[in-house]
Amino acid sequence: MTLVLGLKTLWLLAFGSLSNTLAVNNSGRWWGIVNIASSSNLLTDSKYVQLVLDPSLQLLSRKQRKLIRQNPGILHSITGGVQSAIRECKWQFRNRRWNCPTSQSSNIFGKIVNRGCRETAFIFALTSAAVTHSVSRSCSEGSIESCTCDYRRRGPGGPDWHWGGCSDNIDFGRVFGREFVDSSERGRDLRYLTNLHNNEAGRLTVHAEMRQECKCHGMSGSCTVKTCWMRLPTFRTVGNLLKDRFDGASRVIYSNKGSNRASRVDMRHLEPENPAHKPHSPQDLVYFEKSPNFCTANSKIGTTGTTGRVCNNTSLGLDGCDLLCCGRGFRTLTERVTERCHCTFHWCCHVSCLNCTTTQTLHECL
Ligand SMILES: *[C@@H]1O[C@H](CO)[C@@H](O)[C@H](O)[C@H]1NC(C)=O
Ligand SMILES: *[C@@H]1O[C@H](CO)[C@@H](O)[C@H](O)[C@H]1NC(C)=O
Ligand SMILES: *[C@@H]1O[C@H](CO)[C@@H](O)[C@H](O)[C@H]1NC(C)=O
Ligand SMILES: *[C@@H]1O[C@H](CO)[C@@H](O)[C@H](O)[C@H]1NC(C)=O
Repeated sequence: MTLVLGLKTLWLLAFGSLSNTLAVNNSGRWWGIVNIASSSNLLTDSKYVQLVLDPSLQLLSRKQRKLIRQNPGILHSITGGVQSAIRECKWQFRNRRWNCPTSQSSNIFGKIVNRGCRETAFIFALTSAAVTHSVSRSCSEGSIESCTCDYRRRGPGGPDWHWGGCSDNIDFGRVFGREFVDSSERGRDLRYLTNLHNNEAGRLTVHAEMRQECKCHGMSGSCTVKTCWMRLPTFRTVGNLLKDRFDGASRVIYSNKGSNRASRVDMRHLEPENPAHKPHSPQDLVYFEKSPNFCTANSKIGTTGTTGRVCNNTSLGLDGCDLLCCGRGFRTLTERVTERCHCTFHWCCHVSCLNCTTTQTLHECL
């Protein structure tokens, strides 16, 4: 009992009083929990103490810490989501001047987060989508105490099938994502509206890609009985779609046109910068500022530049040396690579290989 009380006090200390000592500017700070030492929360007392003392948790707002306390198991799911988002971001942008650089510091994505360009929009949408995706899946895997599979679809769904099995809990994932992710945004300005819009676009993308999966039962696959459930898309599918929306993102401005004191309706919203463009849809990404060119390192903007990046000397695309190196040219390196080759299997059970050395040519931006 004393131990429990002691832990509770410790918890309150660490989780209660630290809030509001943070900078006003909380945008995306929660991503820092990806560095958390022990994300398997509340398993054992010693892990519990470790977790409470983990500095990464101080990146969360009071509301975010409360949500984590109320949903045991969810911290692990959120950090897993942020990890997928980082991997996916790097993969989608591997051939571009901005290749989603990240750091181990608490500010994972760097200063680009405080801008309002397309890359910023992509990061917000992707990380928001990742939390919804990961939490929805964790619910159906049974690793969060406060949610389960979505069992609301029941009974016959059509003439030859009925709902059954375990649907991924996208509704829980969306509601939780909105509460948790959006709560790190403050203000009423253009940046706030833009970040919230892109967060929601990410969640909507996951929701829109839910698909029905079915399984046949009955004698030797005769499919006399078919049960179906709803399944999340792969996170790659979400990444591909958000990358397309990055390419087609809409530049917006802040508008309070139509704001009417008498009706007391808050009409502040985003509209296309160019009135000739059609308004963005809820799933489109929006931005309000031109991207930096990403060619040269600039610590003020937080860009690392493309010097040293590997480019493709025959490609005319973004990964080609011309574009990737921003016209600075490139150098050619040869590397000797030794690999295991001509492997043979000997009965039983042993594999022997030869070492083959090949020469690889690489091109690197100056
Ligand atoms: C947030 O902080 C960054 C610097 O860390 C600053 O450039 C940016 O303008 C701030 N944003 C807001 C909304 O205060
Ligand atoms: C380089 O670009 C060419 C043309 O786009 C492509 O066919 C080739 O596979 C690329 N090479 C590498 C190593 O990616
Ligand atoms: C291949 O290289 C490894 C270490 O690089 C070495 O241990 C091994 O003996 C080599 N195998 C042959 C068949 O030369
Ligand atoms: C591109 O590099 C390869 C070696 O990787 C070389 O054989 C080829 O001539 C180069 N092509 C051009 C257009 O420079």
